[in-house]
Amino acid sequence: MKKEIKKFAVLGHPIAHSLSPKIHLLFAKEFAIDLEYKKFDINPDNFFVNVKRLEAEGYQGLNITLPLKIAAFAICDQLSERSSFCKSVNTITFLDNNIIGDSTDGRGLLNDLSNKKINTKGKNIFLVGAGGAANGAIYDLIQSKPKKIFLTNRTFTKAIEMKKYWKSFAEKNQVTLETIDLDFSNRLNFDLIINATSSSLTNQHSPLPEHALHCLKDDGVCYDMMYGSQTPFMKEAYKKTDSVYDGLGMLVEQAAASFNIWHQLAPATENIEASLKNL
Ligand code: ATR
Repeated sequence: MKKEIKKFAVLGHPIAHSLSPKIHLLFAKEFAIDLEYKKFDINPDNFFVNVKRLEAEGYQGLNITLPLKIAAFAICDQLSERSSFCKSVNTITFLDNNIIGDSTDGRGLLNDLSNKKINTKGKNIFLVGAGGAANGAIYDLIQSKPKKIFLTNRTFTKAIEMKKYWKSFAEKNQVTLETIDLDFSNRLNFDLIINATSSSLTNQHSPLPEHALHCLKDDGVCYDMMYGSQTPFMKEAYKKTDSVYDGLGMLVEQAAASFNIWHQLAPATENIEASLKNL
């Protein structure tokens, strides 16, 4: 009997440059799983109709990327605790006519930090940005038990809102949340600065003023959730430290977490970045 191919896809707008199909096919190869993984450019206005169409066509799961993660959150019948808190869904599973949503971005970030031997426990983290990416990652960041997470954002009121929203979850995990204006004094000491803004998509400048990097400890780390080319944030960060990373590892790890949800298998991720460069 012919084995049925499992069907998956990633939805976004735009989607042409998504690496998700390549990553999932590399994972599938490790376990000799026969799967198809497509990418579809979906207009946010037609999101729900398209998700239902793909479900009807026999797709087993979908990854959801920008700008559709909040729309995905809104249409799910069941949500993981993580995605309920983050109000974001990047992984949909179709099960018994239900749309089940989860968010693997935060796990992707934390697993990538762990691969890079970057410890967050007991540390001071500076999280820059208060949009979807920052809110998608902070649940797992808090659960990794840093000492403090400092929040900032170009529109500062959004950082204040974000602190208010996450305050009780942070307290439950014995983590202190603070907001700091970008013009703060230089007395703080960060172990890790994470750029969770989308500034490099539209701007040639780092979202942080130069003096902010003086607050990075000498053995501190800078991490940009963006990937593709060296961002203005990364260029500035290199002036202070060699420990500068982009978000390609996070992308691979969030994909691995989605793969695990769908196939209950943990793919090896260590060679995927190199394989992607050679494809
Ligand atoms: P995403 O899902 O990628 O996080 P988003 O929810 O639109 O997208 O959020 C974008 C984030 O990047 C916001 O924190 C935004 O700051 P504002 O709230 O002030 O808009 C931040 N951002 C975008 N462009 C930026 C820039 N040029 N400088 C600094 N921050 C920027």
